[in-house]
Amino acid sequence: MDNQALSIVDKRTQSAYEIPIHDGTIRAMDLRQIKTGPDDFGLMTYDPAFMNTASCKSAITFIDGDKGILRYRGYPIEQLAEKCSFLEVAYLVLFGELPNEAQLKEWVGQVTHHTMLHETTKKFLEGFRYDAHPMGMLISTVAALSTVYPDARHVLDPESRKLQILRLVGKMPTIAAYTYRHSLGLPYVYPDNDLSYTENFMNMLWKMTEPKYQANPILARALDILFILHADHEQNCSANVMRSTGSSQADPFVATAAAAAALSGPLHGGANEEVLKMLDEIGSKDKVPAYIDQVKAGHMKLMGFGHRIYKNYDPRARIIKWAADRVFEVTGRNRRLDIALELERIALEDEYFIKRKLYPNVDFYSGIIYQAMGFKPEIFTVLFAIPRTAGWLAQWQEMLEDPEQKIARPRQVYTGHAVREFVPLEKRSVPAAPTAA
Ligand code: SDX
Repeated sequence: MDNQALSIVDKRTQSAYEIPIHDGTIRAMDLRQIKTGPDDFGLMTYDPAFMNTASCKSAITFIDGDKGILRYRGYPIEQLAEKCSFLEVAYLVLFGELPNEAQLKEWVGQVTHHTMLHETTKKFLEGFRYDAHPMGMLISTVAALSTVYPDARHVLDPESRKLQILRLVGKMPTIAAYTYRHSLGLPYVYPDNDLSYTENFMNMLWKMTEPKYQANPILARALDILFILHADHEQNCSANVMRSTGSSQADPFVATAAAAAALSGPLHGGANEEVLKMLDEIGSKDKVPAYIDQVKAGHMKLMGFGHRIYKNYDPRARIIKWAADRVFEVTGRNRRLDIALELERIALEDEYFIKRKLYPNVDFYSGIIYQAMGFKPEIFTVLFAIPRTAGWLAQWQEMLEDPEQKIARPRQVYTGHAVREFVPLEKRSVPAAPTAA
């Protein structure tokens, strides 16, 4: 065996083992041979929150957290954000190559013709209170679409998968816009097929009585760039949920709803909404030092800062900051930006954050842009879910096509009671009343 191996001696038995190394990993199943005797189950790895566990092989997104590198299918995010439309990048993420002119035209046409929602969808939405959180409405509505498209359960049929991908990529902006209009008590705006993906989203959000919605091209391009930056991010929390849910061969609508549910958490995609709340809580630049002291004392986290992978600047944050300047040229500078810039300036000089390698992540500036563009904080995570749907579906499809993958079912380390005899109800002791403190 070449030197691409670990030599392990089990001191419990003095037995030696050669464990092959592939792609910088060892197979956890290769550890099961390490036993203390025939009745021993064998060694497992224990890795809460998967801090050091590769759950799959993937060719979709590459991240180098130390160098601040992010690439979709090998292309640097900076080039894609500068030169592509979101749908072009969605095609790349989903199918592995940048589309040629004919492929792009066909793809945009197909997605455009899947933006309409079945009319019953409005009835789902009417069931929500006026103040229901848009993420709750989006998650529920996406899951409900599973009942509208029962053919989606044919997950092993590539043609069916392609149709569901078109439906989900096409309909996410419509669902998002409908949740927003519902929360404002406004009539729904139907898709306008003359508009681009992002302009049509803006149309469905903001069209009022004008005969034809006219999107501000600078804001539309900024939103398209934000969609590109959010398209995929390898095995993040919600992608893991997409893969795990899809591994039982559940249909892609309920799997996408599950992934969106994971995204809604404040430590994940919900952070962009929390950043705005944090900036409003700080209120002004001069109050930033006191807030940072609170964070360093452990009373709260600095929302929009830190990342499991990026131990250097999140490359997306840098591009978003560039886009923010373009947006503020249209909308006017935002006082929240001044607070955010001061927060970043102080944090990046402070040992607490430097030692923990905490830098602004994708959520730190995105919320400020969204708010300046007129979005309410409650819809920020919905704006994350729209483009990430392409990434989730790419991960889902790659999982289904991977011959090594099967239903996800982790092991555990059992820490409960050893076997014990049943106690009849009448013999169960009444716990002593807690003594008053
Ligand atoms: C996204 O994974 C992805 O790729 C996600 C994402 C994507 O595109 O899919 O990039 C999108 O989710 C971005 C992250 C958005 N979340 C936030 O901004 C919330 C605030 N950030 C943190 O909660 C945290 O940084 C995480 C969740 C992002 C990462 O958490 P880790 O990797 O589990 O790190 P940790 O909690 O173990 O923290 C290590 C140390 C701890 O201090 P000590 O216990 O060592 O003293 O750093 C501290 C943490 O307390 N810390 C922070 C902090 N983040 C970590 N302290 C203050 N503020 C923070 N934001």
